[in-house]
Amino acid sequence: MTLAGKRILLIISGGIAAYKSLDLIRRLRERGAAVRPVMTAGAQAFVTPLAVGALAADRVFTDLFSREDEQDVGHIRLARGCDLVLIAPATADLMAKMANGLADDLASTILLATDRPVLAAPAMNPKMWSHPATRRNHAILLGDSIRFIGPASGEMAESGEKGEGRMAEPLEIVAAVEAILDDAPKPLAGRTAIVTSGPTHEPIDPVRYIANRSSGKQGHAIAAALARLGADVTLVSGPVTIADPQGVRTVHVERAEEMLEAVVKALPADIAVMVAAVADWRVAIAAGNKIKKQPGEAPPPLLLTENPDILKTIGHHEKRPALVVGFAAETQDILANGRAKLQRKGADYIVANDVSAGTGIMGGDRNTVKVIGKSGVEDWPEASKQDVATQLAALIASHFA
Ligand code: CTP
Repeated sequence: MTLAGKRILLIISGGIAAYKSLDLIRRLRERGAAVRPVMTAGAQAFVTPLAVGALAADRVFTDLFSREDEQDVGHIRLARGCDLVLIAPATADLMAKMANGLADDLASTILLATDRPVLAAPAMNPKMWSHPATRRNHAILLGDSIRFIGPASGEMAESGEKGEGRMAEPLEIVAAVEAILDDAPKPLAGRTAIVTSGPTHEPIDPVRYIANRSSGKQGHAIAAALARLGADVTLVSGPVTIADPQGVRTVHVERAEEMLEAVVKALPADIAVMVAAVADWRVAIAAGNKIKKQPGEAPPPLLLTENPDILKTIGHHEKRPALVVGFAAETQDILANGRAKLQRKGADYIVANDVSAGTGIMGGDRNTVKVIGKSGVEDWPEASKQDVATQLAALIASHFA
């Protein structure tokens, strides 16, 4: 019950992503939060106040000029009688209103009147998100200390268009809420950490690349878990479709060489956790133009060359962090291979997992790991990637106690 006793005012504005807010309410309540919903007129075109109220087990506020609501609770009490104002989805229109201090309905009035932290989960068409007007509004809101989770990139529900604009998933939003409302001890305060996550994409030509099945879920969860314990975290992420975690500086890269450069640039640090599934090889010379089929000729051979080993470089670097943790994705001889990697790469721990076909670990939500240290091995039971991250962050913190 990580949110026990917390009161969240949830503003739902009008976008198709509003359907995900129903699940979001459930997830928040599962963790002990009380959710008081406010819906804009637009939101009610996508989901009904009846459904929202039933899931929240509270009445739904919709109208600034409702005599009954105003006498009872009033917009000022709504704005202040909570621990956090969460906007999910936050539309381009609502962001524009907020950035300009407009207050022409209940939601925008609450947002102008509140003195509580505000977290927004934007959702809109990618063109709207990248429009200069929205860019401007976003920058203004960041300057006003509004916090954001997402948007993530991916396919849009209505148009099938791809790009940044999809609302963060309910569990990512919950994690961001937890990060803001967390009053737990901060054993890693004053420590810096670098985490790598996701796959790398190694270009073959301008349209093709070599990649792997990594989703970034485990690495992103570790970055967030370290931040929750107070660490100042730089996350270097390969191309993924999940949202940047809350409270973490995220650097986006494509290729292994760019990832290494970003990691070295983030040194010195106290902690390095290298979770990325870095491509071992890249195409020696990526073609400048799309490689075309030649009638009657054999397919072109791909000449590969080795990528830099980021973990090994950091494990032997003159600015080596005090604690270096690597991962080992194995399909056989997990322990022997993990131990060999611990040695070879100069790590303090290797978190080894079995990624054989059928385990569902690559890309899935759960993980079963063995934590190999210099003095022994711990077998951790199967858990969500979030829980593995929390446990690993606690293990890391114990080294700095
Ligand atoms: N790693 C890295 N840079 C690379 C390759 C791997 O930083 N070029 C890191 C990964 O982030 C992980 C660890 O090294 O922490 C082990 O990755 P893994 O793919 O299991 O090992 P490899 O070194 O690629 O060994 P092999 O392919 O022989 O299993």
